[in-house]
Amino acid sequence: MPSLHIIYASTSGNTQHVVDTLIEHLAQSHKEMEVTAQRAEEAQPEDLTKSDVLVLASGTWNYDGVEGYLNMHMRELLEKRAKDTDLAGCPIAFISLGDDRYYYTGRATERFMQFAMEHNGKSCCMPLIIINDPYGQEEKVTTWCDKLMECFTSSE
Ligand SMILES: Cc1cc2nc3c(=O)[nH]c(=O)nc-3n(C[C@H](O)[C@H](O)[C@H](O)COP(=O)(O)O)c2cc1C
Repeated sequence: MPSLHIIYASTSGNTQHVVDTLIEHLAQSHKEMEVTAQRAEEAQPEDLTKSDVLVLASGTWNYDGVEGYLNMHMRELLEKRAKDTDLAGCPIAFISLGDDRYYYTGRATERFMQFAMEHNGKSCCMPLIIINDPYGQEEKVTTWCDKLMECFTSSE
């Protein structure tokens, strides 16, 4: 059974909403797929490589007063617990959120790309970038999800 694992960080619930939308869509469009999700706080390095495709999702946050970073729980996972992880070519896709009131709008995307590059991940889909309130942007999520599914056919 093809498997997709989602690891996400969400403080005010926006990323959670996007992930929920993705999961609901997959439950209808790809019933045969094993889809699992967990919060970054609970994820361990081995969770990054246990599925056929990995999705990482996070809003853009500030760190020490500087904007443009990943949510702190995602940072803790990627920069500390999983800092020595080798993704060994594992197909990986990203969802990043942001708000255009901030100068470094949606900068989480670049942080994710950097992680994939440094840890030997294979980016298999364009990142999904949701700027501002995700409520009302569900169609963008489901369209991206259908694109993401091509990762499975292209990796065969
Ligand atoms: C303290 C704080 C810092 C933020 N910094 C940024 C930022 O640097 N760039 C950006 O695009 N959005 C920034 N945002 C907006 C969040 O990324 C956006 O609201 C996102 O949808 C939050 O997702 P979440 O509810 O899943 O955590 C910030 C929000 C807060 C509250």
